[in-house]
Amino acid sequence: MSISNLFEPVKIGRYNLPNRIFLAPVSRNRANRDGIQPSYAAEYYGQRASAGLIISESAAINNWSGGMNAPGIYNDKQVEAWKKIVDAVHDKGGRIFQQFWHSGRATHQSLLPSDRTVAAPSAIGISREMITYEGKHPSTKPRAFTLEEIEELRADYAQAARNSLAAGFDGIEIQAANGYLIDQFLQDAANQRTDRYGGSAENRSRFLMEVLADAIDIWGADRVGVRISPTGDFNEIGDTNPDHTFSTLIEQLNQLGLAYLHVVEQLPWSPATGEKIALNNKLRKLWNGAYIANGGFDAESGATSIADQKATAIAFGRPWIANPDLPLRYKLNAPLNQADEATTYGGDERGYTDYPTLESTAVR
Ligand SMILES: Cc1cc2nc3c(=O)[nH]c(=O)nc-3n(C[C@H](O)[C@H](O)[C@H](O)COP(=O)(O)O)c2cc1C
Repeated sequence: MSISNLFEPVKIGRYNLPNRIFLAPVSRNRANRDGIQPSYAAEYYGQRASAGLIISESAAINNWSGGMNAPGIYNDKQVEAWKKIVDAVHDKGGRIFQQFWHSGRATHQSLLPSDRTVAAPSAIGISREMITYEGKHPSTKPRAFTLEEIEELRADYAQAARNSLAAGFDGIEIQAANGYLIDQFLQDAANQRTDRYGGSAENRSRFLMEVLADAIDIWGADRVGVRISPTGDFNEIGDTNPDHTFSTLIEQLNQLGLAYLHVVEQLPWSPATGEKIALNNKLRKLWNGAYIANGGFDAESGATSIADQKATAIAFGRPWIANPDLPLRYKLNAPLNQADEATTYGGDERGYTDYPTLESTAVR
């Protein structure tokens, strides 16, 4: 089938975008221990400016969102480093939103400053092993947040939103997917609170709605997106009634006029089948705005989803790792470079900025 609809311009929030091939957030873990991106990250993102929209890898909203070599967006030095990345993308005519992240329980104590302990909506641990500076360790069992800490987290998200604006990003995406902090509030596998942040689906969505209210004050709704993964189980997330939980959330999100809803319909290591496909289909129909679909797409399946009105645009993750000129390769039906798994997470320029473009390999 023709994939030409991937190249049709599309309006997302405030922006008119030249194509529907987006770059999904893909953490590459090359920041230093202070969460500052290396200078060569500007080259990496600039190389990918032909995406209709780049969504950055997740950036920590404070210094106790533990991830090894994860970038942050909570201090001036980090903002300066991101500015260079944003400028490189803009210089090449691209647009870039920044994804905001906090790990909640999906971390290890050694990744946090000494005055912080791992905490989450409820004191429910997970068994996933975390990569730390001292090798792999089981996640640290969290304690439950106090209400004061939830207020503090909300303020940290708002400050991150101001920092991101100062760095020159075109918008922000609130990461509420993949079993990280906000997903831990949303779903009852991680949230057994009995206060206003737990219990009913409305209560469990309260933290996300508060974060969004602040983000919208700072950015305007048409520059704010949200990422969710209603059928995902990464970081041992789950819900006894995901249909009700996410329907309730989407009904509330529909009131906000957001730039987009970004849905991880499946992850590489956990493909959606049967009931999960049905739930993704149902939730998609409830949503009244632009819908970015993600998870296992290639050019053809992405174009089919757009043609079937199952997506406004497609976020591709892994295909971009080794193909900085992915839209051109799709357009020409050119072969894709294969990514080197050893350099996916962490390292340096190798396996990061050195994947060839078609132009660089063309016979002259
Ligand atoms: C190396 C790697 C890093 C990722 N980092 C993030 C991230 O920072 N934030 C996020 O929301 N998802 C992240 N994801 C998930 C991807 O955005 C995407 O959902 C997943 O790769 C499925 O899409 P794909 O089949 O097009 O690769 C990551 C995935 C991979 C493989």
